[in-house]
Amino acid sequence: MGHVCLTPREKSLSMRIAVVGSGYVGLVTGSCFADIGHDVVIVDNDEERLAGLRSGAIPIHERFLPELLARQLGQRIRLSSDLQAAARECDAVFIAVGTPATDSGEADMSYVESVAREIAGALDSYKVVVEKSTVPVYTSQWIRTVMIRNGGRPASFDIASNPEFLREGTAVSDFLYPDRIVVGVENERCAAVLREIYEPLTSGEYYSRADAIPRPDRAQVPPRLIITSTRSAEMIKHASNAFLAMKISFINAVASICESVGANVQQVCEGIGSDSRIGSRFLNPGIGYGGSCFPKDLMAFRAVAKECGYDFRLLDEVIRINEDQRHRFLRKVRSVLWTLRGKRLGVLGLAFKGGTDDIRESPAILLVQELLREGCHISAHDPAAMDRAREVLKSSVVYAAGPYEAAAGADALLILTEWEEFAALDLDRLRKLVKYPIVIDGRNLYDPAIMSAHGFSYYSVGRPATLPEDVTAEIQPDKRQIS
Ligand code: UGA
Repeated sequence: MGHVCLTPREKSLSMRIAVVGSGYVGLVTGSCFADIGHDVVIVDNDEERLAGLRSGAIPIHERFLPELLARQLGQRIRLSSDLQAAARECDAVFIAVGTPATDSGEADMSYVESVAREIAGALDSYKVVVEKSTVPVYTSQWIRTVMIRNGGRPASFDIASNPEFLREGTAVSDFLYPDRIVVGVENERCAAVLREIYEPLTSGEYYSRADAIPRPDRAQVPPRLIITSTRSAEMIKHASNAFLAMKISFINAVASICESVGANVQQVCEGIGSDSRIGSRFLNPGIGYGGSCFPKDLMAFRAVAKECGYDFRLLDEVIRINEDQRHRFLRKVRSVLWTLRGKRLGVLGLAFKGGTDDIRESPAILLVQELLREGCHISAHDPAAMDRAREVLKSSVVYAAGPYEAAAGADALLILTEWEEFAALDLDRLRKLVKYPIVIDGRNLYDPAIMSAHGFSYYSVGRPATLPEDVTAEIQPDKRQIS
């Protein structure tokens, strides 16, 4: 027999992985594990959801996910509702089910617990059970306890914590080109399994493939694998999200002061962000953070701290500034338009951020609801989140087919989500469509000088307002009210 030369890819053994939960984290994790060469079963007890996935319906708007599923479904990805069977045939089981917030702000761990109970009954050989959902510290210990109480032999499994740092909209790229991979384990046997799972990334092998998902500009490859204790890994997840939210609230607070003193927060950001100890990312002021992660995780982290006897008041302040940011924006709209009853507003953006159809805790939706309460008529457009928004806002707003349609006849145009397409509008066309050339930008997408040159009165966050170049006399709204 001749000598067969294996490519690095053929040499690396694929692992058998079960991913429990076909939500946002589960789908992305499962698809990416398959793409780096593993055999994956995605498990969900929602048969309807699985049927939808099988027929090609992808429940979330996520870049590259359709490509990965088209490539791997039926190849390296199977879908199943039988958790025990999936667990039995796999080396590792990733738990990626929801951990919604309870009324008191703690994470509801009942889905995680029921998965742990079920896996315990399927342990016929050594498995690593990995918590992927965002969970409070000590969860790995609880999973272990639940599994032992339900008949799992302690020697037949280990628990690992492998937090995700995926942003909605760029989750696939974030998974495949991470800044770091954090793995929390309690022993070397378990670490070895996780190391092998991530080997196609940490060795750089995935990145040499012609069909690899394209590398984002900023990505450094190969990524670093950081091995910690399970408790530290759990803390890393909560502390990372809390720190990022703190960065956003910090710059929002600075933006408010900029408005009062007539400074420009964009220049301030450039000045402070270029200090490499601070960094310029996540330093964009706006109408506050939203989404399914930051608001929930901050509450959960605060609850965990409290339980451990630490009153994390810094987090209270981060949350307070975030809410205040929305109210400030509303005051700004009021101060520009004077009265709101009966005003016709064009709204660009309903999603909690650009690149996603997710409206959970979206500051844009909360603002629209406030404006409706004040008696405004709203025509809104979002490139992806209209269907989801319709479930909440019903017929209280007009859903425009595009940004220009939303702007047509408007007393003012409000920008509430940082979609790329909203930053590249044809300003001359826009100018002709609106009733009054007033843009109130909650995401700082435009250069005030350019807006002024195109004939707009332009109000943004933390930057001086500008009037149209050709207007010599317009009544300047009271600066103190704006700030
Ligand atoms: C966030 C984290 O960025 C991820 O690392 C983490 O994995 C994820 O939560 C999670 O825990 O699952 P995500 O919620 O998808 O990701 O969205 P981000 O891109 O972080 O944006 C969150 C909110 O902050 C958005 O409303 C966005 O508009 C706002 N934001 C973000 C700002 O207002 N300014 C910024 O500079 C950045």
